[in-house]
Amino acid sequence: MPAKTYLITGASSGIGAQFARSYAARGCNLVLVARRLDRLEALAAELRERHGIEVLPFAADLGKRESVQELLIYLKLSGISPDGLVNNAGYSLAHTFAATTAQQQLDFIEVCVTTPTLLVRELLDHMLSQGYGRIINVSSMVAFSPGASGHTLYPAAKAYMLKFSRSLAAEVADKGINVTALCPGSTESEFQHSNGMDAVLKTNPARFVQTAEAVVEAAIRANEAGREVIVTGLFNKIAVAAMTLLPDGLITPLIRWGAKKYQLKE
Ligand SMILES: NC(=O)c1ccc[n+]([C@@H]2O[C@H](COP(=O)([O-])OP(=O)(O)OC[C@H]3O[C@@H](n4cnc5c(N)ncnc54)[C@H](OP(=O)(O)O)[C@@H]3O)[C@@H](O)[C@H]2O)c1
Repeated sequence: MPAKTYLITGASSGIGAQFARSYAARGCNLVLVARRLDRLEALAAELRERHGIEVLPFAADLGKRESVQELLIYLKLSGISPDGLVNNAGYSLAHTFAATTAQQQLDFIEVCVTTPTLLVRELLDHMLSQGYGRIINVSSMVAFSPGASGHTLYPAAKAYMLKFSRSLAAEVADKGINVTALCPGSTESEFQHSNGMDAVLKTNPARFVQTAEAVVEAAIRANEAGREVIVTGLFNKIAVAAMTLLPDGLITPLIRWGAKKYQLKE
Protein backbone atom coordinates (compact mmCIF):
# COMPACT_ATOMS: atom_id res chain seq x y z
CA MET A 1 0.00 0.00 0.00
CA PRO A 2 1.25 3.54 -0.69
CA ALA A 3 1.86 5.86 2.26
CA LYS A 4 -1.02 7.87 3.74
CA THR A 5 0.40 11.36 3.20
CA TYR A 6 2.94 12.27 0.52
CA LEU A 7 5.00 15.43 0.29
CA ILE A 8 5.79 16.04 -3.39
CA THR A 9 8.21 18.75 -4.47
CA GLY A 10 7.99 20.34 -7.90
CA ALA A 11 4.30 19.44 -8.09
CA SER A 12 3.29 22.46 -10.20
CA SER A 13 4.09 20.76 -13.51
CA GLY A 14 5.42 17.72 -15.36
CA ILE A 15 6.50 14.64 -13.43
CA GLY A 16 5.69 16.14 -10.00
CA ALA A 17 2.10 17.02 -10.98
CA GLN A 18 1.71 13.47 -12.31
CA PHE A 19 2.97 12.04 -8.99
CA ALA A 20 0.24 14.10 -7.32
CA ARG A 21 -2.41 12.72 -9.69
CA SER A 22 -1.22 9.12 -9.36
CA TYR A 23 -1.02 9.12 -5.55
CA ALA A 24 -4.35 10.98 -5.31
CA ALA A 25 -5.94 8.24 -7.41
CA ARG A 26 -4.64 5.78 -4.80
CA GLY A 27 -6.40 7.73 -2.02
CA CYS A 28 -3.30 9.39 -0.52
CA ASN A 29 -3.38 12.85 1.06
CA LEU A 30 -0.87 15.30 -0.38
CA VAL A 31 1.39 18.23 0.43
CA LEU A 32 2.28 19.89 -2.87
CA VAL A 33 5.32 22.17 -2.98
CA ALA A 34 6.68 24.49 -5.69
CA ARG A 35 7.02 28.24 -6.31
CA ARG A 36 3.92 28.67 -8.53
CA LEU A 37 1.11 28.64 -5.95
CA ASP A 38 -1.65 29.28 -8.53
CA ARG A 39 -0.74 26.01 -10.28
CA LEU A 40 -0.63 24.09 -6.98
CA GLU A 41 -4.00 25.49 -5.88
CA ALA A 42 -5.66 24.55 -9.17
CA LEU A 43 -4.28 21.02 -8.98
CA ALA A 44 -5.25 20.71 -5.30
CA ALA A 45 -8.85 21.77 -6.06
CA GLU A 46 -9.07 19.27 -8.92
CA LEU A 47 -7.73 16.38 -6.84
CA ARG A 48 -9.87 17.16 -3.78
CA GLU A 49 -12.97 17.25 -5.98
CA ARG A 50 -12.14 14.08 -7.90
CA HIS A 51 -10.77 11.88 -5.09
CA GLY A 52 -12.09 13.35 -1.81
CA ILE A 53 -8.58 13.59 -0.36
CA GLU A 54 -6.84 16.32 1.65
CA VAL A 55 -4.36 18.41 -0.33
CA LEU A 56 -2.19 21.21 1.04
CA PRO A 57 -0.60 23.46 -1.59
CA PHE A 58 2.52 25.20 -0.20
CA ALA A 59 4.54 27.85 -2.05
CA ALA A 60 8.28 27.51 -1.41
CA ASP A 61 11.45 28.32 -3.28
CA LEU A 62 13.49 25.20 -2.57
CA GLY A 63 16.66 27.05 -3.52
CA LYS A 64 16.25 29.15 -0.36
CA ARG A 65 16.99 27.49 2.97
CA GLU A 66 14.61 29.81 4.88
CA SER A 67 11.79 28.80 2.54
CA VAL A 68 12.43 25.11 3.28
CA GLN A 69 12.48 25.86 7.02
CA GLU A 70 9.11 27.68 6.69
CA LEU A 71 7.67 24.56 5.06
CA LEU A 72 9.00 22.29 7.82
CA ILE A 73 7.73 24.59 10.58
CA TYR A 74 4.32 24.81 8.91
CA LEU A 75 4.06 21.02 8.74
CA LYS A 76 5.03 20.70 12.40
CA LEU A 77 2.56 23.34 13.59
CA SER A 78 -0.21 21.76 11.47
CA GLY A 79 0.52 18.29 12.85
CA ILE A 80 1.23 16.93 9.36
CA SER A 81 3.82 14.11 9.34
CA PRO A 82 4.30 12.87 5.77
CA ASP A 83 5.10 9.18 5.54
CA GLY A 84 5.86 9.46 1.82
CA LEU A 85 8.30 11.86 0.14
CA VAL A 86 8.93 12.49 -3.55
CA ASN A 87 12.00 14.65 -4.06
CA ASN A 88 11.20 15.71 -7.60
CA ALA A 89 11.80 19.48 -8.01
CA GLY A 90 14.68 20.14 -10.35
CA TYR A 91 16.01 21.85 -13.44
CA SER A 92 19.27 22.18 -15.33
CA LEU A 93 21.69 24.98 -16.10
CA ALA A 94 21.93 24.42 -19.83
CA HIS A 95 25.35 26.03 -20.30
CA THR A 96 29.00 25.28 -19.73
CA PHE A 97 30.40 25.76 -16.22
CA ALA A 98 32.33 28.89 -17.22
CA ALA A 99 29.17 30.46 -18.67
CA THR A 100 27.17 30.24 -15.41
CA THR A 101 27.76 32.31 -12.28
CA ALA A 102 28.73 30.93 -8.88
CA GLN A 103 25.31 32.03 -7.54
CA GLN A 104 23.46 30.13 -10.30
CA GLN A 105 25.54 27.05 -9.53
CA LEU A 106 24.97 27.23 -5.77
CA ASP A 107 21.22 27.77 -6.28
CA PHE A 108 21.13 24.70 -8.53
CA ILE A 109 22.95 22.57 -5.95
CA GLU A 110 20.58 23.83 -3.25
CA VAL A 111 17.44 22.81 -5.21
CA CYS A 112 18.74 19.54 -6.68
CA VAL A 113 21.03 18.21 -3.92
CA THR A 114 20.90 20.03 -0.58
CA THR A 115 17.14 20.49 -0.17
CA PRO A 116 16.26 16.87 -1.10
CA THR A 117 18.85 15.66 1.41
CA LEU A 118 17.47 17.97 4.10
CA LEU A 119 13.88 16.88 3.45
CA VAL A 120 14.82 13.22 3.79
CA ARG A 121 16.66 14.01 7.03
CA GLU A 122 13.68 15.90 8.45
CA LEU A 123 11.00 13.37 7.47
CA LEU A 124 12.93 10.15 8.09
CA ASP A 125 12.63 10.08 11.89
CA HIS A 126 8.83 9.89 11.72
CA MET A 127 9.05 7.08 9.14
CA LEU A 128 11.55 5.19 11.32
CA SER A 129 9.44 5.64 14.45
CA GLN A 130 6.35 4.19 12.77
CA GLY A 131 8.34 1.49 10.94
CA TYR A 132 6.96 2.56 7.58
CA GLY A 133 7.90 5.06 4.90
CA ARG A 134 8.19 5.64 1.18
CA ILE A 135 10.85 7.82 -0.50
CA ILE A 136 11.34 8.44 -4.22
CA ASN A 137 14.30 10.59 -5.26
CA VAL A 138 14.07 11.77 -8.85
CA SER A 139 17.43 11.22 -10.49
CA SER A 140 17.90 10.71 -14.25
CA MET A 141 19.44 8.27 -16.69
CA VAL A 142 22.26 10.82 -17.04
CA ALA A 143 23.36 9.73 -13.56
CA PHE A 144 25.07 6.90 -15.45
CA SER A 145 26.70 9.12 -18.10
CA PRO A 146 30.42 9.94 -18.28
CA GLY A 147 29.53 13.66 -18.49
CA ALA A 148 29.66 16.00 -21.46
CA SER A 149 30.06 19.65 -22.31
CA GLY A 150 27.05 21.73 -21.22
CA HIS A 151 24.70 21.02 -18.27
CA THR A 152 27.93 20.49 -16.31
CA LEU A 153 26.41 20.04 -12.85
CA TYR A 154 23.31 18.09 -13.89
CA PRO A 155 24.79 14.56 -14.19
CA ALA A 156 26.74 15.18 -10.97
CA ALA A 157 23.59 16.16 -9.07
CA LYS A 158 21.64 13.22 -10.48
CA ALA A 159 24.49 10.79 -9.67
CA TYR A 160 24.34 12.12 -6.11
CA MET A 161 20.60 11.38 -5.96
CA LEU A 162 21.24 7.86 -7.25
CA LYS A 163 24.06 7.03 -4.83
CA PHE A 164 22.39 8.74 -1.87
CA SER A 165 19.22 6.72 -2.50
CA ARG A 166 21.08 3.43 -2.71
CA SER A 167 23.08 3.97 0.48
CA LEU A 168 19.98 5.13 2.35
CA ALA A 169 18.06 2.11 1.07
CA ALA A 170 20.80 -0.14 2.43
CA GLU A 171 20.28 1.44 5.85
CA VAL A 172 16.48 1.51 6.08
CA ALA A 173 15.13 -1.27 3.84
CA ASP A 174 14.68 -3.60 6.84
CA LYS A 175 12.88 -0.85 8.79
CA GLY A 176 9.81 -0.72 6.55
CA ILE A 177 11.10 2.17 4.44
CA ASN A 178 11.38 1.81 0.68
CA VAL A 179 13.81 4.17 -1.05
CA THR A 180 13.93 4.39 -4.85
CA ALA A 181 16.02 6.46 -7.26
CA LEU A 182 13.87 7.22 -10.32
CA CYS A 183 16.01 7.51 -13.46
CA PRO A 184 13.92 8.63 -16.45
CA GLY A 185 15.12 9.70 -19.87
CA SER A 186 13.32 12.31 -21.97
CA THR A 187 9.86 12.79 -20.49
CA GLU A 188 6.95 15.04 -21.51
CA SER A 189 7.01 18.00 -19.11
CA GLU A 190 8.04 21.66 -19.00
CA PHE A 191 11.68 20.68 -18.33
CA GLN A 192 13.13 21.73 -21.70
CA HIS A 193 11.13 24.96 -21.65
CA SER A 194 12.17 25.80 -18.05
CA ASN A 195 15.81 25.28 -19.04
CA GLY A 196 15.51 27.47 -22.15
CA MET A 197 15.87 24.52 -24.49
CA ASP A 198 12.66 24.45 -26.54
CA ALA A 199 14.70 23.97 -29.72
CA VAL A 200 16.05 20.64 -28.41
CA LEU A 201 12.58 19.27 -27.82
CA LYS A 202 11.84 19.59 -31.54
CA THR A 203 14.81 17.39 -32.47
CA ASN A 204 13.99 14.58 -30.01
CA PRO A 205 12.15 11.80 -31.87
CA ALA A 206 8.76 11.24 -30.20
CA ARG A 207 9.42 7.50 -29.81
CA PHE A 208 12.18 8.28 -27.28
CA VAL A 209 10.01 10.59 -25.17
CA GLN A 210 7.91 8.98 -22.43
CA THR A 211 4.74 10.39 -20.93
CA ALA A 212 4.96 11.59 -17.33
CA GLU A 213 2.23 9.08 -16.49
CA ALA A 214 4.28 6.11 -17.79
CA VAL A 215 7.33 7.30 -15.82
CA VAL A 216 5.44 7.89 -12.59
CA GLU A 217 3.45 4.64 -12.66
CA ALA A 218 6.70 2.69 -13.19
CA ALA A 219 8.28 4.62 -10.29
CA ILE A 220 5.42 3.93 -7.89
CA ARG A 221 5.37 0.23 -8.78
CA ALA A 222 9.14 0.01 -8.25
CA ASN A 223 8.97 1.87 -4.93
CA GLU A 224 6.16 -0.33 -3.64
CA ALA A 225 8.15 -3.41 -4.68
CA GLY A 226 11.17 -2.14 -2.74
CA ARG A 227 13.38 -1.60 -5.80
CA GLU A 228 16.29 0.79 -5.23
CA VAL A 229 16.64 1.97 -8.83
CA ILE A 230 14.20 2.24 -11.71
CA VAL A 231 15.29 3.26 -15.19
CA THR A 232 12.08 3.84 -17.12
CA GLY A 233 11.48 2.90 -20.76
CA LEU A 234 13.14 0.28 -22.96
CA PHE A 235 15.31 2.73 -24.91
CA ASN A 236 16.58 4.29 -21.68
CA LYS A 237 17.32 0.85 -20.18
CA ILE A 238 19.39 -0.02 -23.26
CA ALA A 239 21.22 3.32 -23.09
CA VAL A 240 22.01 2.85 -19.40
CA ALA A 241 23.23 -0.70 -20.04
CA ALA A 242 25.55 0.69 -22.74
CA MET A 243 26.83 3.45 -20.43
CA THR A 244 27.45 0.91 -17.68
CA LEU A 245 28.88 -1.99 -19.68
CA LEU A 246 30.76 -0.54 -22.66
CA PRO A 247 34.42 0.41 -22.22
CA ASP A 248 34.96 4.05 -21.28
CA GLY A 249 37.06 4.66 -24.39
CA LEU A 250 34.06 3.75 -26.55
CA ILE A 251 31.09 5.18 -24.64
CA THR A 252 32.62 8.54 -23.64
CA PRO A 253 33.17 9.88 -27.19
CA LEU A 254 29.73 8.56 -28.19
CA ILE A 255 27.96 10.33 -25.31
CA ARG A 256 29.89 13.56 -25.88
CA TRP A 257 29.01 13.55 -29.56
CA GLY A 258 25.33 12.87 -28.78
CA ALA A 259 25.23 15.56 -26.06
CA LYS A 260 26.21 18.31 -28.53
CA LYS A 261 22.59 18.79 -29.55
CA TYR A 262 21.64 19.53 -25.91
CA GLN A 263 24.19 22.34 -25.63
CA LEU A 264 23.02 25.91 -26.05
CA LYS A 265 25.04 28.30 -28.18
CA GLU A 266 27.06 30.73 -26.08
N1 LIG B 1 11.61 15.78 -18.26
C1 LIG B 1 12.69 15.05 -18.45
O1 LIG B 1 13.05 14.73 -19.59
C2 LIG B 1 13.47 14.54 -17.24
C3 LIG B 1 14.35 13.47 -17.42
C4 LIG B 1 15.06 13.01 -16.33
C5 LIG B 1 14.87 13.57 -15.08
N2 LIG B 1 14.01 14.62 -14.93
C6 LIG B 1 13.85 15.20 -13.59
O2 LIG B 1 12.48 15.19 -13.25
C7 LIG B 1 12.23 16.18 -12.26
C8 LIG B 1 10.96 16.94 -12.64
O3 LIG B 1 11.19 17.65 -13.84
P1 LIG B 1 10.09 17.80 -14.98
O4 LIG B 1 10.60 17.10 -16.16
O5 LIG B 1 8.74 17.47 -14.47
O6 LIG B 1 10.24 19.38 -15.29
P2 LIG B 1 9.23 20.59 -15.06
O7 LIG B 1 7.93 20.33 -15.73
O8 LIG B 1 10.02 21.80 -15.46
O9 LIG B 1 8.99 20.59 -13.49
C9 LIG B 1 9.97 21.02 -12.59
C10 LIG B 1 9.32 21.27 -11.24
O10 LIG B 1 10.35 21.69 -10.32
C11 LIG B 1 9.89 22.84 -9.64
N3 LIG B 1 11.01 23.69 -9.26
C12 LIG B 1 12.07 24.10 -10.01
N4 LIG B 1 12.83 24.95 -9.31
C13 LIG B 1 12.25 25.08 -8.08
C14 LIG B 1 12.55 25.83 -6.91
N5 LIG B 1 13.61 26.67 -6.85
N6 LIG B 1 11.74 25.73 -5.84
C15 LIG B 1 10.64 24.94 -5.88
N7 LIG B 1 10.30 24.19 -6.95
C16 LIG B 1 11.10 24.27 -8.04
C17 LIG B 1 8.98 23.56 -10.65
O11 LIG B 1 8.01 24.37 -9.95
P3 LIG B 1 7.97 25.97 -9.93
O12 LIG B 1 8.59 26.48 -11.20
O13 LIG B 1 6.51 26.28 -9.80
O14 LIG B 1 8.73 26.34 -8.70
C18 LIG B 1 8.28 22.37 -11.29
O15 LIG B 1 7.16 21.99 -10.53
C19 LIG B 1 13.49 17.04 -12.19
O16 LIG B 1 14.24 16.68 -11.05
C20 LIG B 1 14.25 16.66 -13.45
O17 LIG B 1 15.64 16.82 -13.30
C21 LIG B 1 13.30 15.12 -15.98
